[in-house]
Amino acid sequence: MKNLIRFVLPLIVAIGLVAYAVVPLVDSLTLHWFIKDVEIRSKLVFNTINEPLSELIDTKDKNKIERLFSRVLQDERLYALATCNAEKKIVFKTNTFPSEINCPVEGADYNEQRQMASGQIYLVSYSLHDEYKKKTGDVIIIHDLSFIERRSVLTKKYIIYFFAVLGLIISLITIIIARISLLGFINGMQSILHGDLLFDKKKNTNSPEFDPILKDLRNLVGQLEKDRKFRDEVRISWTPKALKGILQRELLGEEVIIVSNREPYIHVHKENKIEVQFPASGVVTALEPVVRACSGVWIAHGSGSADKEVVDKNDRFQVPPEDPSYMLRRVWLSKEEEDGYYYGFANEGIWPLCHIAHVRPIFRSSDWKYYQEVNKKFALAVKQEARTKNPVILLQDYHFALLPKMINELLPEATIITFWHIPWPNSESFGICPWREEILDGLLGSTIIGFHTQLHSNNFIDTVDRYLECRIDRVNSSISFKGKLTAVNNYPISIEYPVKWSKSAKNIEACGEEIRLRHNISPNIKIGIGVDRMDYTKGILERFYALDRFFSLYPSWVGKFVFIQIAAPTRSSIEHYQIFANEVQSLAQKINHKFSSGDYQPIILLAQHNDPAEVYKYYRAVDFCFVSSLHDGMNLVAKEFIAAREDERGMLILSQFTGAAQELPESIVVNPYDIEQCAEAVNSALTMSLTEQKERMQSMRSYIQEFNVYRWAGRMLMDAARARRRSKIIGKLHL
Ligand code: G6P
Repeated sequence: MKNLIRFVLPLIVAIGLVAYAVVPLVDSLTLHWFIKDVEIRSKLVFNTINEPLSELIDTKDKNKIERLFSRVLQDERLYALATCNAEKKIVFKTNTFPSEINCPVEGADYNEQRQMASGQIYLVSYSLHDEYKKKTGDVIIIHDLSFIERRSVLTKKYIIYFFAVLGLIISLITIIIARISLLGFINGMQSILHGDLLFDKKKNTNSPEFDPILKDLRNLVGQLEKDRKFRDEVRISWTPKALKGILQRELLGEEVIIVSNREPYIHVHKENKIEVQFPASGVVTALEPVVRACSGVWIAHGSGSADKEVVDKNDRFQVPPEDPSYMLRRVWLSKEEEDGYYYGFANEGIWPLCHIAHVRPIFRSSDWKYYQEVNKKFALAVKQEARTKNPVILLQDYHFALLPKMINELLPEATIITFWHIPWPNSESFGICPWREEILDGLLGSTIIGFHTQLHSNNFIDTVDRYLECRIDRVNSSISFKGKLTAVNNYPISIEYPVKWSKSAKNIEACGEEIRLRHNISPNIKIGIGVDRMDYTKGILERFYALDRFFSLYPSWVGKFVFIQIAAPTRSSIEHYQIFANEVQSLAQKINHKFSSGDYQPIILLAQHNDPAEVYKYYRAVDFCFVSSLHDGMNLVAKEFIAAREDERGMLILSQFTGAAQELPESIVVNPYDIEQCAEAVNSALTMSLTEQKERMQSMRSYIQEFNVYRWAGRMLMDAARARRRSKIIGKLHL
């Protein structure tokens, strides 16, 4: 109907133009032709009557002249005749001859068109001559031109009909062509939105007609999206409430399912009781506040010794235990599965593969088999937990590289956001993995893949580019593989701000007193801290080497400075981790042996698990925090320390190889392999004026306040909402 109106309206306008411009033109042309015709006929009439009339005029026989004229007047277009003598007097005229017309004054023949009361006439006069060529009179022949008017009306009618029919035919053809082109255009747009028309260096199948608009469209959409995203983001004050608001507004309260290997609450047997533990995991630290805000379901490996005893018949448990606000669904793994999937492929294969920490990855095909099976197990758990056919699913980390594709097959309408919490190496390093194509294929089942930094996103895109046949749009950072579009974005992870422990925690002075009392540290001694899992990527050995060097360079600090290292045991079934933990122990002992005196020991190594609330106290009690990771996706310890320092005091020494270093340049940024530089950094942190500490801390704290974990999750959810809107548009274009 719309199309009809769209084409009929111009048609009416065109007919109007025909009526006002074409018809008058055709009118004047036909008049011209008819008059020419009338003139020829007049000449013919005159030639026919010239001779007999001359004779009859001589005889002055009016009756005969009348008969002659009546015969001639039988032609319907001849209106009247008259003859004049040499004295310009009418000697005979037919009854119809208008009285107001006189004999011609001029000597020569003439013609004239006149408007009479009865209508248009055309008057022609010819001279009569005797045998000596002397003029003897004139013949006036009058034609009735009303037939021209009648014909003109008819012509107008036919012209309008003709143009109307012509217009209609053209319109119909245009509608048909437009319809065909529209279908082609829609297909093109669908391909653009699907990413099928994006640049393909290997199989260039783009329709060439889309090339120019494709480029402009992509740039425009990309720019608009970036502008809008930024505007939306800065307008929001990022709180749990804002996150809930995004779910309600942007995702219309859709269900959110989170999947991670590590669970947020672990139930363990301790002294004949069941105790709840919070794992030392950056992923859990970041996601717990998010899932609390979204009231979703969190699916994770039930790894605690008492986990099975607290769940319901569906392996579910409401958490947090003290204030239930979301559901934890536990997935059970056999010992073989855990060994192969978690210890084996994930932590001896992918973990060292992605961290440049000079530990050789081990790839066993038996581990790979379990990795595939466990990913399948989690995919089925997701399917079971999904209440709708299109939930928003947030997949976490390197344990689940195959899960996006598997879920995509089970729930094709789900929006899958995969966040890779660890670094992504360059394509050459990644290429040593025997199952590199399968891992990339699995990840590209995601709607969005997130990394902490641009560098990791770029490395991922380069890796895909190198090992898979796909289309890559680097401007908009997206990959089209097997007809599925995956966006690759940066979402630097953060922590909740303000920290939940801040409400219940003691004030800064009280925390300091408690920690000093616990470790027998007198008030005049300064304290530094390191908080990590006992992992070779964290640079704990390098940190100790730097402390050793520091005490050698600045011996006056011996006895006046203590470094507390909290190192939570992790992945201790893996031999490399056992070796590493022993190395850390013995290096600490060596340094303590070197610089201890009496009760004083420069390094206090706490190789044990500490709850986050306890760690929070340590952060508040110390003078600086030392993060020396050799390679780290983000490192949330750095951010947690800053968030804990409400007094705006203390300093952060931060490895340049963490994602956090890009966001916190006000810290003392170091290369952990550079022992001298790190030793100097310790000295700077201990001697920095309170004013400078305050300035740096204020700036870092306001950054973390603004870029907190709600913003991290909110940005992903907003992008998920955009992706859903985009796929809805594609759906509509199919109609
Ligand atoms: C890193 C990983 C997380 C993992 C955490 C603790 O932060 O990115 O996925 O949960 O380490 O490791 P674990 O093996 O104990 O879960």
